[in-house]
Amino acid sequence: MYRMRRLRVNEAMRNLLRETSIEKSDLVYPVFIIEGENIKNSISSMPGIYQYSIDRFDEELKSIVESGISAILIFGIPAHKDEVGSEAYDDNGITQRAIRFIKEKAPDILVIADVCLCEYTSHGHCGLICDGKILNDETLPLLSKMAVSMAKAGADIIAPSDMMDGRVKAIREALDEKGFKEIMIMSYSAKYASGYYSPFRDAAHSAPSFGDRKTYQMDPANRKEAIRECLLDIEEGADVIMVKPALAYLDVIREVANSTNYPIAAYNVSGEYSMVKAAAMNGWIDERKIVMENLIGMKRAGAKIIITYHAIDVAKWMDER
Ligand code: PBG
Ligand code: ZN
Repeated sequence: MYRMRRLRVNEAMRNLLRETSIEKSDLVYPVFIIEGENIKNSISSMPGIYQYSIDRFDEELKSIVESGISAILIFGIPAHKDEVGSEAYDDNGITQRAIRFIKEKAPDILVIADVCLCEYTSHGHCGLICDGKILNDETLPLLSKMAVSMAKAGADIIAPSDMMDGRVKAIREALDEKGFKEIMIMSYSAKYASGYYSPFRDAAHSAPSFGDRKTYQMDPANRKEAIRECLLDIEEGADVIMVKPALAYLDVIREVANSTNYPIAAYNVSGEYSMVKAAAMNGWIDERKIVMENLIGMKRAGAKIIITYHAIDVAKWMDER
């Protein structure tokens, strides 16, 4: 009999043979910054996550720096929205001001700017609208302008999450032309039309006012199509490709990992976070064990980078260990 249990006899042996691990440097923490003064709003569907106004963000920034997390994904929530999402590409918009603030206070933190119109449009869709249809090609120049504006404000990485066709190429060309050749693109390549985003839409005020996102985000039933999305984004110039959500799509992460040698990011989205939090608050599960198990699953599936609302907690648990 071959004895597999020899591999598990004690902690040191298990540590020696462990195939994957999570480092603080793998983690990205999403943050929400809202227009206004002296605001720290809790988000009821995301316990432990807040919207901060810039003047209160110091507090959050301090806890990020102290935790040892070195990358954040920033979402701005403007006070004024319009049909064309003007504030998304206004150099003085909420997100641009927040990036400048963060870069001034904590220059070593990598700032990833989400590029999409839905937080900025009155209709809550990710692109321009005409006769109830989401326009593709007409949206590209606005996304490009937004990306350049974020880079100008100091963003290190541009993360297009809109799912318009051709946006990675358009953004890459615009960044290059404006002298931002070294700004990376982390593309939301395989982004599914998922029910797991609803707590985020509470947090970012970005729910669509009519219809859904199924004409641009992917059908959850499709796997091969995700590979095509990733390969296309790589061809267009993406440096990092993303699969989103993570937990119900671990097969997709693995298949993308087998099909490319590009770094993969997994987005452990808001609904995944909320489910864990709700069960933990009820005392039904051990939060720490479940979170670590979920995240190691993403690493095992082939992700390098994990974007997660649990990032600060995870970093603290690592320090306690
Ligand atoms: C914007 C965007 C969304 C998320 C990240 N960027 C929402 C959406 O597509 O509706 C979701 C993140 C999360 O649920 O944590 N397009
Ligand atoms: Zn969007």
